[in-house]
Amino acid sequence: MRIAMIGTGYVGLVSGACFADFGHRVCCVDKDGSKIEALNDGIMPIWEPGLESLVKANVGHGRLTFTTDLQSAVEGAEAIFIAVGTPARRGDGHADLTYVFDAVRELARFIQPGAVVVTKSTVPVGTGDKIEQILSEEGIEEVSVASNPEFLREGAAIADFKHPDRIVVGAEDPRAQDVLREIYRPLFLNRAPILITGRRTAELTKYAANAFLAVKISFINEISDLCEAVDADVQDVARGIGLDNRIGPKFLHAGPGYGGSCFPKDTLALLQTADAAGVDQRIVRTTVAVNDDRKSSMVERVVRALGGDPKGKRVGALGLAFKPNTDDMREAPAIPIVKALVERGAAVCAFDPVAMSQAEQVLSGIQFADDAYAAADGADVLVIVTEWDEFRALDLERVAASLRGKILVDLRNVYDPGEAEEAGLTYYGVGRGRPRG
Ligand code: UDX
Repeated sequence: MRIAMIGTGYVGLVSGACFADFGHRVCCVDKDGSKIEALNDGIMPIWEPGLESLVKANVGHGRLTFTTDLQSAVEGAEAIFIAVGTPARRGDGHADLTYVFDAVRELARFIQPGAVVVTKSTVPVGTGDKIEQILSEEGIEEVSVASNPEFLREGAAIADFKHPDRIVVGAEDPRAQDVLREIYRPLFLNRAPILITGRRTAELTKYAANAFLAVKISFINEISDLCEAVDADVQDVARGIGLDNRIGPKFLHAGPGYGGSCFPKDTLALLQTADAAGVDQRIVRTTVAVNDDRKSSMVERVVRALGGDPKGKRVGALGLAFKPNTDDMREAPAIPIVKALVERGAAVCAFDPVAMSQAEQVLSGIQFADDAYAAADGADVLVIVTEWDEFRALDLERVAASLRGKILVDLRNVYDPGEAEEAGLTYYGVGRGRPRG
């Protein structure tokens, strides 16, 4: 198959590289000339495990190319995937579809009859209908429009793409269904379930999946607050409920709230869709509110650990990215937490294994350390914000020796409280019994 992938962000680049690895000929196109130039030099715009070698191998085999020239990418392509950004519009949370619609208007000039336009970007219900309308306004009738949402987790995106729990294809037109079946054929051979459904249903499925996972996280975060009040352990509660197959063990880790490029944006966009449809979604609305409050309650946790006033105190922060194995700082809980501590007079020294240059762009007035121990050095409290693997096996005695305050606030429940206390630290986790003090 010949595939054009419009947009070389997270979704476009990973999907393009994986499709090429399936044996298709993929041309990725982006307006950002410097990004394309870098990709042609083998430099990745994002940090994602395995991506660089996958891209290089497929470029080497001649199956994957990068260009700024839309015409050369789209002409002759049997499928044109749209993977441009759909940021939340400032103020109202609506998904901004400007880039999607601009891309459709442009590709209309070069698309061949019989081709399929596929949305991979997360787009609100009805976007496929609008794309069809734009194409028809541009005089294009002989193409079909399908929805094929992605369910990739950053940091595990390639594995998720190649071993998906399911593939969702939204297309009423049998020709579009056939093209997408053919594109994903290598995965059917591995028995990945494929759900072929209506286009609007596929569009909504993506939002419903992300909203449900966000609900799970906010649920366990609220349960963790209850655990602290009644002296129970949220880790064991999560395990105890997660072993029930109907609930499942995943996305039940209590922490500082969800962040990233998807959950915060997609929950808000779902609420906008619901408002427009005149149907209230109280569970998702509450989930968003619980998650918003979570960050300030984490700040209070650190402040309490410091004895009530962070002014003049030194805080070491471990992990800044919204989750491990990514340099992505979008909606990272670290941002409001660190900012609030700085505003209240604390001096913050942070370390993240890969996200520090991204963090520098969104966090000012803090210091950056060279490693975890340097962040702890002389601090009154050490706060684990993101659970990078390298923070899981710190020499706690060394940490305790270098800390001034001997306090560990573990917002990801990485450590066993007993072990931390044995090393001489006062330990505060999340939802692990009644907190001291
Ligand atoms: C998510 C979805 O998982 C993916 O299917 C979708 O297509 C894009 O959005 P991603 O944003 O990369 O992927 O990260 P994910 O691993 O889902 O984590 C999202 C956030 O939830 C992170 O901030 C993470 O720390 C938090 N989280 C996750 C928890 O706080 N607790 C959990 O149990 C799981």
